[in-house]
Parts: sequence; structure tokens; C-alpha cells
Amino acid sequence: MKIQIINGPNLNLLGVREPDVYGVASFEQYLEELKRRYPDIELSAFQSNVEGEIINKIQETGFSFNGIILNAGAYTHTSVAIHDAIKAIPTPVIEVHISNVQAREDFRRQSLIAAACRGVIAGFGLDSYRLAVEAFR
Ligand code: DQA
Repeated sequence: MKIQIINGPNLNLLGVREPDVYGVASFEQYLEELKRRYPDIELSAFQSNVEGEIINKIQETGFSFNGIILNAGAYTHTSVAIHDAIKAIPTPVIEVHISNVQAREDFRRQSLIAAACRGVIAGFGLDSYRLAVEAFR
């Protein structure tokens, strides 16, 4: 089974960025743990701060991978183009968030991509990614 993780803007700063909201671990550390935990799953990870590069990665993996775990960061709340990219591919996408976006500012309560996704997992810290892997298994 092949799963692609895609992280959007500012998620390269995990561990440094607002640690009270996003925790102190870097994504690289967490990814190693995840790979050890699921040795039978081929887990790839990609991060970009650029909307078009996220769309390119969705198109590149969306016809061959078994699942995509997408944390689109702030683009979650703004991007019709990412919504359309998810609709354009056969691979199911799970939207994930580290924080509970429903419990934060009002502008984070709307997702423009959720309706195109298989489901949404939010609010469990980095464990949100593991829960998404479980949902694909
Ligand atoms: C986030 C939540 C978004 O609202 C925010 O813009 C992020 C991270 C999360 O994982 O909790 O960058 O997607």
C-alpha cells in the first residue's frame, strides 16, 4: 500500500512554530516513527508553501497511490483549486489537521476542501496523521 502525505504552508516549521498549538516535534521526527510503526506501508511525505506545487503533487500521486493524507494548512480555508484537484483524481484523500480547527478562530471553521475528501481528522496533534493511516488500512 502506498500513501502520500502532503503538507501545505508553514508546516515545514513544525516544532518551532506556535509550539503551544502545534507541539514541539518536527515532522521529520514524527515521520520516522510512523514509518517504523507501519513497515508494510510505503509512506512518502512532501511539503510545500506554494499552492500550485501542492496541486502538482496531488495530480502526480492521485492516479497511482492508494491514499493521500493532506494537511493543506491555511489553503484549507481558501483554495478552490485544491478542492478541484482532489475531485479530479481517483485516489481518496483524507483532510487532516494537527489542531482542532473548529475550536479556533472563525475563519478556520470553514474548509473549502472537506467536501471533496473521504473524511476529516482534526485536533489530535501529530497523531491525526496516524489516525488517517489507520483509516486507509
Ligand atoms: C492546520 C490548521 C490551519 O488552520 C492552519 O492554517 C495551519 C495548520 C493544522 O494542522 O492544525 O497551518 O492545518
